[in-house]
Amino acid sequence: MSALNDRVKTSSGFYVTQEAPIQTDNAIPTPSVPAPDILRCAYMELVVTDLAASREFYVDVLGLYVTEEDDAAIYLRSTEEFIHHNLVLRQGPIAAVAAFSYRVRSPEELDVAVAFYSELGCRVERRSEGFTKGIGDSVRVEDPLGFPYEFFYQTEHVERLSWRYDLHTPGELVRLDHFNQVTPDVPRAVKFMQDLGFRVTEDIQDDEGTVYAAWMRRKPTVHDTAMTGGDGPRMHHVAFATHEKHNILAICDKLGALRRSDAIERGPGRHGVSNAFYLYLRDPDGHRVEIYTQDYYTGDPDNPVVTWDVHDNQRRDWWGNPVVPSWYTEASLVLDLDGNPKPVVARTDDSELEVTIGADGFSYTREGDEEKGFKLGNTL
Ligand SMILES: [Fe+2]
Repeated sequence: MSALNDRVKTSSGFYVTQEAPIQTDNAIPTPSVPAPDILRCAYMELVVTDLAASREFYVDVLGLYVTEEDDAAIYLRSTEEFIHHNLVLRQGPIAAVAAFSYRVRSPEELDVAVAFYSELGCRVERRSEGFTKGIGDSVRVEDPLGFPYEFFYQTEHVERLSWRYDLHTPGELVRLDHFNQVTPDVPRAVKFMQDLGFRVTEDIQDDEGTVYAAWMRRKPTVHDTAMTGGDGPRMHHVAFATHEKHNILAICDKLGALRRSDAIERGPGRHGVSNAFYLYLRDPDGHRVEIYTQDYYTGDPDNPVVTWDVHDNQRRDWWGNPVVPSWYTEASLVLDLDGNPKPVVARTDDSELEVTIGADGFSYTREGDEEKGFKLGNTL
């Protein structure tokens, strides 16, 4: 019996289990000390090559709020945020990600983070004054998967602008929702993130048990970060939430009116995975930003894990619309703690793009269909 067929299939077409059905034969050792208690993804530090162009995109077009700025960096936040920032744009020579930053439950959790990553032999750097403005005592690490992760608790509180309707725009970005990381070996990454205290909410697999992607959470939503199979370590996207679907449509309308429709890479649409409404944009450096809304609550301890068949034509777009190739192949470099790009390692497991493309693919709309059933040509 196949791996997928051993599971309970729902009337919606995916499978559910109680524990993430992902195994690795290439595990990073589990530290003997506890993992830091992570609250949520909190901010991303992005290196951009033209700060003025990036400011225009994130502030004038997308409407993020400037908490503070100088000649070298801009600190931005979303409407509901009360910590100093959700996004740092820093001028630099190469477009890349300097930090995926998470907030922990208390200042003491930084000692826990240092012990956890030190036991793994990772490079660890702690700065009591923080690595960015508005953030206090912080720990940055080069994690075992090659990503620059940051942990902090202390931060300057700023005004939550939820009630300032006079400032809001039709496409208001209200929260930072999640990160998405590209990594060659998804099961290895999932096992490490489980050791770090994350839970799997959804994944994409095939009958042979190859895992193409997994979504993992600390806060009670579908995810704080996802692991996407591909050449990595790279950053696939950073996602901001809107309150409603119509806010996403307003962003599309605004980009069209500005003759900036080429910033829209994929969507708008409805995801199968996460059930969220989505839109993918590319910023002036090519960094990918997702606008995302209306996923579901996952906070109960027995929240069911959802597994999608990689050949289900509705897994990445519930309406069966194609995924553009750039979405699978392009991503941002990540930096080590010295600011140098991390070398990219090729994925050797099957590629989702290749197993689901064209006449050699097996994607279906209704399981058992002979015909491929695509409305708009071959899906990826
Ligand atoms: Fe996403």
